[in-house]
Amino acid sequence: MPIYSQKVMDHFTNPRNVGEIENADGIGEEGNPVCGDMMTFYIKVKENRLDDIKFKTFGCGAAIAVSSIVSEMAMGKTLEEAMKITPRTVADELEGLPKNKFHCSNLGAQALHKAIDDYKKKQKKAEGGKQ
Ligand code: FES
Repeated sequence: MPIYSQKVMDHFTNPRNVGEIENADGIGEEGNPVCGDMMTFYIKVKENRLDDIKFKTFGCGAAIAVSSIVSEMAMGKTLEEAMKITPRTVADELEGLPKNKFHCSNLGAQALHKAIDDYKKKQKKAEGGKQ
């Protein structure tokens, strides 16, 4: 079993922001075909900031810890700031991930970015509809 930092163990055993948001403004799903793990992020946006974030993760312990920390890192941030969250900053925030678990941090950053992209697409559509 890989050696995890205290922070990974904390977020794995007590993940923050687990769940689903009804009527989410954006939804992002990311999976890894190799390990089969899946992650979905739900976001609510208010005045260009992430007002609420929830996630559902079917995956390894590291993937659960990653989702939890990503939700904390992104909460309250502007969409631009949240887009700057990368697998590297996620792993750093978790005080490191074992090498063979680094791909788990990709899932978190990508699922969040996809949720933001989804929100932006919906916004564009809504704006288009008004004209
Ligand atoms: Fe695939 Fe962790 S083993 S996300």
